[in-house]
Amino acid sequence: LAEQDRHRPRFHFVSPAGWLNDPNGLTQWDGTYHLFYQYNPTSALHSRIHWGHATSADLVTWTDQPIALVPGDDGPDRDGCWSGVLVDDGGTPTVIYSGRHDERELACVATGSADLNTWVKDPANPVIAEYPQGLELTAYRDHCVWREDGRWRHLVGSGLVGEGGTALLYESTDLRTWDYVGPLITGDATTGTVEAGDWTGTMWECVDLFRPPLADATGAADGSDPVDVLVFSAWDSGVTHYPLYWTGRYAGDAFDPHELHRLDYGGRYFYAPQSFRDEGGRRLVFGWLQEGRTDEAMEAAGWSGVMSLPRVLTLGADGALLQAPAPEVAALRQDATTYAAQGLSSHPLDLGSGEQRDLELSVVLEPGAAVALTLAASPDGEEATVVSISRGTADPGRATVLLDRSRSSTDEKVDLGPRSGPVPVGEDGRVELRVLLDHSALEVFANGRALTARIYPTRADAVHVSVALVDGVAGLEAATTWSMRDVWDGPRPLYP
Ligand code: FRU
Repeated sequence: LAEQDRHRPRFHFVSPAGWLNDPNGLTQWDGTYHLFYQYNPTSALHSRIHWGHATSADLVTWTDQPIALVPGDDGPDRDGCWSGVLVDDGGTPTVIYSGRHDERELACVATGSADLNTWVKDPANPVIAEYPQGLELTAYRDHCVWREDGRWRHLVGSGLVGEGGTALLYESTDLRTWDYVGPLITGDATTGTVEAGDWTGTMWECVDLFRPPLADATGAADGSDPVDVLVFSAWDSGVTHYPLYWTGRYAGDAFDPHELHRLDYGGRYFYAPQSFRDEGGRRLVFGWLQEGRTDEAMEAAGWSGVMSLPRVLTLGADGALLQAPAPEVAALRQDATTYAAQGLSSHPLDLGSGEQRDLELSVVLEPGAAVALTLAASPDGEEATVVSISRGTADPGRATVLLDRSRSSTDEKVDLGPRSGPVPVGEDGRVELRVLLDHSALEVFANGRALTARIYPTRADAVHVSVALVDGVAGLEAATTWSMRDVWDGPRPLYP
């Protein structure tokens, strides 16, 4: 079934079969990249969650490994092994995850074999057996663990009733006995709106604290204070969820926030991201591309959920994160076509066709100009997905990236809602656009800002790509397009 599903990506990681959500336990261990993930092997819907596991030497081709964590028949994780991280405990791979039972989650530990394939749960689980005294919490789960000054520090995602999402700080010398320190930072759920993307929710899932490398290494010399980043997935039951981050300063037992940012304008289509530092010192992140189709459609397909491509995170000169697909992704490119510099007009410039594409466009927009890149389009335009970039006149230092999915599919049951967000532009008006389309998975990067989504065209001929001017004056400085090869040898096996 899944093999016949045209929406199943061929160069993004997907589960062998069944449900996939958050990336977990990300690490590069003795050179090998490990991707664990929230996995339900028995159905395409979320239920008793296991930890799936795959390894890669190159970040783009993956080998399935045995399932790493299975919910216990009884005990603290009998209802699921929820999200967590992997740390190096003096040479012993150790995961800290959320064991779910009786509709709540508590911190559990397991240690791995040298190949990270066999995991033994700690008999002392749950190692944190109750919520901190005196707090009224909306929820409590997911972990960020790091070594600092000879001890471990640990954040658990949570929310304080009547206040907002929070990250609760703990300390330990052995990863088993944890002292509660206090909330590292607490949001204010009474301010902001979902529409503006600045409402921080009543619960923070998948908190992730790190110091990003600077995009421009010369910036390090200017003596300015380093910037820390706290990524979280703002959540509220029934309302919405999307990934945000604070830039600020982590010092002592607190995070002093400077500015709140949206991590990905796709919102829930790049959810529950987890980052890690690889052996080369890069900050890499993966996120979960949720489905935009019905449960029935997922069940009929036999699989659901896509892992994003690996992204490199750096801190830009403007104090916000820059995101780019890891350079390794370029190894999948084939059949390059380049386009000469030219002015753009309302007559579309044909950029080829296909469902596995990588596109790089350097576009220069005058103030007030707008350009539209059309993907997955049928020749008659009945189906088409449009990514447009428009540059303001009042504020020419800012453009907007807009994803219009209103014609992405004639299937009215799939999500056809728009997505958009601001893109910084320099005085030259240049927007570097990178677009990766892999069947239903779409990742867009515009001057380092990301917008991720899913699309589900129905027509076999909805495969065309073109770019055109919508408004004002704009030109193409350079463009190259590629088709992307499959990362699976033959059909992606459904049941290994
Ligand atoms: C985020 C999340 C986590 C939780 C996991 C359960 O998508 O809800 O908070 O640990 O998924 O699968």
